[in-house]
Amino acid sequence: MKIAILPLKLIIISSLIFTVLSCKNETTNPKHSTLNESIEKKVDSVLALMQINEKIGQLVQYSGKWNATGPSSTKGDQHKLEKLKKGEVGSMLNITSVASIRETQKIVMEHSRLKIPLIFAYDVIHGYKTIFPIPLGETASWDLDIMKQSASIAAKESAASGLNWTFAPMIDVSRDARWGRVMEGAGEDPYLNAVVGVARIEGFQGDDLSDINTIAACAKHFAGYGFGEAGRDYNTVNVGANELHNTILPPFKAAAEAGAATFMNAFNDIDGIPATGHKILQRDILKGEWNWSGLVVSDWGSIGEMRAHGYAEDKKHAAEIALNAGSDMDMESYAYEAHLETLLNEKKISIHQIDDAVRRVLRLKFELGLFDDPYKYCNEQREKDNVYSKENLAVARDVARKSIVLLKNENSLLPLSKQLKSIAVIGPLADDKDSPLGNWRAKGEYNSAVSLLEGVKNAVGENTKIHYAKGVDLTIPTIAPGANQFLLPLKFNTTDDSGIAKAVEVAKKSDVVLLVIGENAYQTGEGRSQTNIGFLGLQNELLEAVYKVNKNIVIVLMNGRPMDLSRASEIAPTILECWHLGSESGNAIADVVFGDYNPSGKLPVSFPHNVGQEPLYYNQKNTGRPYSNKHVTFSGYRDAPKKALYPFGFGLSYTTFSYDDLQLDKNEIKAGGDIKASVNVTNTGDRAGEEVVQLYIRDLVGSFVRPVKELKGFEKIMLNPGETKTVSFTINEKTLQFYTANNTWEVEPGEFNVWVGGDSTTTLKKSFTVIE
Ligand code: BGC
Repeated sequence: MKIAILPLKLIIISSLIFTVLSCKNETTNPKHSTLNESIEKKVDSVLALMQINEKIGQLVQYSGKWNATGPSSTKGDQHKLEKLKKGEVGSMLNITSVASIRETQKIVMEHSRLKIPLIFAYDVIHGYKTIFPIPLGETASWDLDIMKQSASIAAKESAASGLNWTFAPMIDVSRDARWGRVMEGAGEDPYLNAVVGVARIEGFQGDDLSDINTIAACAKHFAGYGFGEAGRDYNTVNVGANELHNTILPPFKAAAEAGAATFMNAFNDIDGIPATGHKILQRDILKGEWNWSGLVVSDWGSIGEMRAHGYAEDKKHAAEIALNAGSDMDMESYAYEAHLETLLNEKKISIHQIDDAVRRVLRLKFELGLFDDPYKYCNEQREKDNVYSKENLAVARDVARKSIVLLKNENSLLPLSKQLKSIAVIGPLADDKDSPLGNWRAKGEYNSAVSLLEGVKNAVGENTKIHYAKGVDLTIPTIAPGANQFLLPLKFNTTDDSGIAKAVEVAKKSDVVLLVIGENAYQTGEGRSQTNIGFLGLQNELLEAVYKVNKNIVIVLMNGRPMDLSRASEIAPTILECWHLGSESGNAIADVVFGDYNPSGKLPVSFPHNVGQEPLYYNQKNTGRPYSNKHVTFSGYRDAPKKALYPFGFGLSYTTFSYDDLQLDKNEIKAGGDIKASVNVTNTGDRAGEEVVQLYIRDLVGSFVRPVKELKGFEKIMLNPGETKTVSFTINEKTLQFYTANNTWEVEPGEFNVWVGGDSTTTLKKSFTVIE
C-alpha cells in the first residue's frame, strides 16, 4: 500500500481504514437485509475523503478489452487510461486474466489520489472456462444443488482469474421462444426462476464475498426484459400491475432477499418508461420497499439509449433521469462522467443521491475485501490450478447429463446397447465442437467441447462401427471462426444439399441413426430473435431423407430455445433434448444414449406445435371463453392446438412412475395456516430413476385473475424399481399469497386446487378452502 503521496490528514484516516480492515475473522455478510456496521463505518470514512470527481468516478464502468499490456493507443483507450489514473473509474468489465487485471489495478493504485481499487466484472453466465450447460438447459435438471455447484465452480475459476463480479444470473421470466435470450434464464415460470436464481446467487457468492473463491452476483435484467413484444430483443414491454408484480418481479424479490450483491437494469421500456430510468422500480420498490442495499448497474449503454427511446433529450438529460431513478453505475454510456457534476450544480440531482450510489459501490468493494488487498484475487498459481481442471470438467459432465430431457422414446429405442454393430452419427451439429458451448461462453475456447461423435466413440468398443456424415452445413461461414458473436451474421445454408446422399448411404447401413440437428451456438443469445423456430437451413430435408431409409432415428436436439418439433415428433420414434450442454456435451449425451445415466430432466419451457402459438406458457390465465367444445368461438386457434406439444415440466425416463393417493391433511385453513399435501410416487419400471415431483396450485377466484395452474414446489427423488416414496409439500401463506388488487401481498380467502404430478398437465387434484 503506498500512502506516501497522500496529505497528512488523509494518511491518518486511511491508515485507520486499513488497520480496521486488516482485522480478519470478520466475514462480510452478503445478505443485504442488514448492513454490516463495521463496513458502513469504513464506507463513511472513505466517502468523507472523496472529492466530487472521485465520487462520480466510482459510478463509471468501462469495458476494457485489453490484455496485460494495458490500454492501446486509440483515443478511447487513452481516455480510459487518463480516467483510471485520476481515480475516476469505479469498475472495469471484460478484462480477464490475472496478468491483465493486475496491470489495470496497478494503474489506479500507482497514480490515483485515494487508491480506491477497481472491481472487475465479466459475463460469466454458464461457466468461465469450464463450460456448463446454458442456463435454460441446466434449469431442466430441476436440481438446485448442482446448479449451485456449477455457479460456485464458475465463481472459483473467475475469482482465480482475478475477477470479482459476474453479470448473472438472468432471472427474466421468458415466455416467447422467438426471443434469443431465452437460453440465458430459467424459463417461463416465476417460481422456477426464483429458486434457480437464488441457487445460482448462492453458488456465485457463497457465504462470504471476501472469500477468494467467490464473486458478486448480478440479478438481471430489472425488469421485464423477457416480455419484449413479439420476442424482438430490446423491445417495448406492455404489462400492467398484475403481470409486473406477480410474474416479473417475484424472482427479483427472491434475489434481493437472498442477498444478490448487485442488480442490472434493462434495455426495454415498461409501459413507456425505460427500465434504466424507472424510479418506481429501482428507488421505490427495490431500494425502498425491499430495503436492498446493493448496487444497480445500468445495462450496456442503456443510459445513453434513453435518447433513442425518445425519453431523454440528450445524454445530460439521460444522466439526470437515470441517477434520479436509482441507476447507480453507468456501464459504457459516458453519461455520468460527462454530466453528473453539472447536474449537481444545477440542482437537478442531489449530493445525497450521489453519495448513496457511491456508498453502494464502496460497500461492495469492502465486502469483496478489495480495500484490504486490491490484488487479493490476482494469483497466477491459483489461476493455473483452478481453471479448467479435471475435477471441474467432471462436474460439468454430471450437470450436462442431468440437464438432458427425453421427450419421446417409442418402443424404448433408447438406451442403445453398446454392442450394436453399427451406429450412424449424422447432422450438421454431430461433430460440432463449438456449438455445445452455447452463447455467452465466457472464456470457453473455440471448438473445445466434446462433440457427440467423439462422445459416442469414447463410449463404444471396437466392435461397433460408427458411420459419420455431416449431411448439410447449417450456416455458411461468413467470418473467421471464434470471432465476436455480435458481428456474426448468421447466413443459413439453403442451397447446398450435396452432402445428403452420403448421409442416406450411412443411415442405410446402420442399425440406428443419431441425427444431431437444431441450432448452432449463436442462433440464440442477445440480438438473436427469430420468427422461425424450426430446423433452419436444409435440416428438414436431411431429416426426411434419412427417415426414408432408416426409421430408427434418435433426434439429438441441440438448441437454446423451445423449437417447433411438430414434424420431427411425428416421424422420429425418439427425441432427446440436449440444449447446448457445454464442455463435456458429447460424453454427457453418450452417458444417456447408452444408459449409463437414466435421463431425469424436465422442460422449464413449453414447446409449441408451431411458432404462431408464441408466447406460450402453461400458467396462463383463463379467458371468459377458455377452449371448450361448448363454445362456438373460443380463445385459441382454428389451425393449431392451444396447448403445447411438449408441456412445461415434462420429461421421460427409461423407467416409469405412477402417482397415487394425493392427500391433504385439512380441507380448510385460515389465511396464515398450513396444509400438508402428500402423494405416493412409485417406480413402476425395471430401472432405478429420478423423478421431479411437482406441486401446482390454482386460486379459483382472485381480485386479479389468477393463472390456471402455478408451480409452487418440487422435489427430485430417486426410486429403485418397485420402490414407493411418499413426498410431502407444505402449502402455507407464502405458497398462496399474491400481489392483490389492494397493491399488497396477501392470501385471499376462497377455494384452491392442488395438483401433484410429473408435469404441468397432471390431473391428480384435491381442493381446499381458505376461510376468513
Ligand atoms: C447485456 C447484459 C450484459 C452486458 C455486459 C449487455 O448487452 O444485455 O446482459 O451483462 O451487455 O456484457
